[in-house]
Amino acid sequence: MKSRRAFLQHSVFGAMAAGSVEFWTRISAMPETFRKGNFPAVIATWNNEDATKAAWEILSAQGRALDAVEAGARVPEANPEDSSVGYGGFPDRDGDVTLDACIMDEFGNAGSVTCLQHIKHPVSVARLVMEKTPHVILTAEGALEFALSQGFKKENLLTETARRAWEEWKVKSEYKPVINFERHDTIGIVAIDAQGRASGACTTSGLAFKMKGRVGDSPVIGAGLFVDAEVGAAAATGLGEMVLKTLGSYFIVEEMRRGKHPQKAAELAIRRLAEKYPEQARENQVGFVALDVKGRHGGFGLQPGFNYTLFQQGKNVIYESGSYFSK
Ligand code: GLY
Repeated sequence: MKSRRAFLQHSVFGAMAAGSVEFWTRISAMPETFRKGNFPAVIATWNNEDATKAAWEILSAQGRALDAVEAGARVPEANPEDSSVGYGGFPDRDGDVTLDACIMDEFGNAGSVTCLQHIKHPVSVARLVMEKTPHVILTAEGALEFALSQGFKKENLLTETARRAWEEWKVKSEYKPVINFERHDTIGIVAIDAQGRASGACTTSGLAFKMKGRVGDSPVIGAGLFVDAEVGAAAATGLGEMVLKTLGSYFIVEEMRRGKHPQKAAELAIRRLAEKYPEQARENQVGFVALDVKGRHGGFGLQPGFNYTLFQQGKNVIYESGSYFSK
């Protein structure tokens, strides 16, 4: 059983104890579900322990979920060893690293960038699109121009490892997405903070050696990510084309709105795409994570091998997900 101290540290009541009169007022104005929720909590696709840890540092200090998911997403973006996100991401067929990312806050505001080159932290550019422009999505050259105007630095994101992988790929130029590549892929991360505010982010370099201009699910609101503060949030990883065609994250949030547990909602989203696109589903991987306003979580994959990380009640735990196909 949790000690009283741990309960105070990791629940909304703990946040109240540490907060101001204004905080008390805001809490008492919240829906009942928020006050009873197991918050704060953050969940991310794959074994992204460092990302959830960065998010938890903000959440456990009574910070805003939006700041937490941005901080979490920036971790793999900056990691040159991560070949599917940010710096070190594998390039497209032409050898260009092009990044997609989005972010969504507790008010339903959203920002996104697609095909962004030379900027290490597309999630932060997406946040500024949300906060400083009247738009939701900026793409390619326009996104880069905007990023530079906001003080982001132009960098070479193609690491030597990624360049060599591209040179090897060019020998055959076979376009075949690989299931569970390195057991790591796009990071989708969603959180609910101590005050019950939900937010999410999603960031990726997309499919390795994709066609020039290809955009996946990750920067598309409703596909790679969806947040509704009254219900919860969901995010996706894996083959974006299938997620785009089923609007998987939106589907999960709507199922949760109808009362489904996040686990059940994630399973239904996977079943929907497996039944609708059986051939594509057999050959590829998709995984979803979900968190609802009660602090309940879920995760599910198409294929075995999908896992996800949850930081809640002071513990950072990697879960092996169930899957639609058994092998
Ligand atoms: N889920 C990432 C992508 O398909 O680009």
